[in-house]
Amino acid sequence: MDAPLLGVNIDHVATLRNARGGYFPDPIAAAQLAVEAGADIITFHLREDRRHIKDEDVVRLKAEIQVPLNFEAAVTDEMLDIIEHTRPEHVCLVPERRQEVTTEGGLDVVGQFARVQGACSRLAQAGCRVSLFIGADPAQIDASAKAGATCVELHTGPLAHAWWDKDEARVQAELARLRTGLQHARAQGLRTHAGHGLALSNALSASAVSGGVSSTALVAALPEVAELHIGHALIGHSVFVGMRQAIADFKAEAIRARRAAAMVG
Ligand code: PXP
Repeated sequence: MDAPLLGVNIDHVATLRNARGGYFPDPIAAAQLAVEAGADIITFHLREDRRHIKDEDVVRLKAEIQVPLNFEAAVTDEMLDIIEHTRPEHVCLVPERRQEVTTEGGLDVVGQFARVQGACSRLAQAGCRVSLFIGADPAQIDASAKAGATCVELHTGPLAHAWWDKDEARVQAELARLRTGLQHARAQGLRTHAGHGLALSNALSASAVSGGVSSTALVAALPEVAELHIGHALIGHSVFVGMRQAIADFKAEAIRARRAAAMVG
């Protein structure tokens, strides 16, 4: 029973800092605290428009953070150059559209196969472990394996939306789709991660279906999930309970869910 590793996404600390255009709160200080509180990986997304994490943050993260960095980026020459220069341990390639509030869909590996394959090869040569953020779609999973990725992160957004909407039937359907996708990816030799929109069920976040089970627990219970990447709801939770406690709460939730699933299974 290995609980999934927790990648803490610190983008929203940078969003808060940038709201005043200054130095506070410092996302690197948040990353340090997250590591002290049990984060296994620090995740960040350097967007084309630099709306949260900035180039200077990436330099400081690399110099100051001792756990693996998971650098999320679009498949562009600019980003590949920065990643080659930074050499983070992990890279997660994501789609990016300027107008979106957050990463909305998965990467279309099928539609831009040559480009993604070229990026996987460049990043592997730079010593990075490459993950592709995709929907739980067998064609995208097969293309990811063929493109040379080591891992896929399956998009839990559809499940998370159903969970916030308290739509039990949709939650169960999305959970089954996610599980099938994870198993399919495993069968292709890919390491499997999950993330996007995951939250806790409690009085502060206040959505619960599936008998009160959180979206984080629903996903963490799946034995194929080796890593969870969580940002918005974790930073949101820390507004109420503090960041150290928020990370402890998410980690405990994942461990509890995996342990309970192992006992049932
Ligand atoms: N995984 C990927 C690839 C993402 O792009 C994001 C959002 O930046 C997350 C996980 C975390 O999503 P959320 O902030 O909704 O927890």
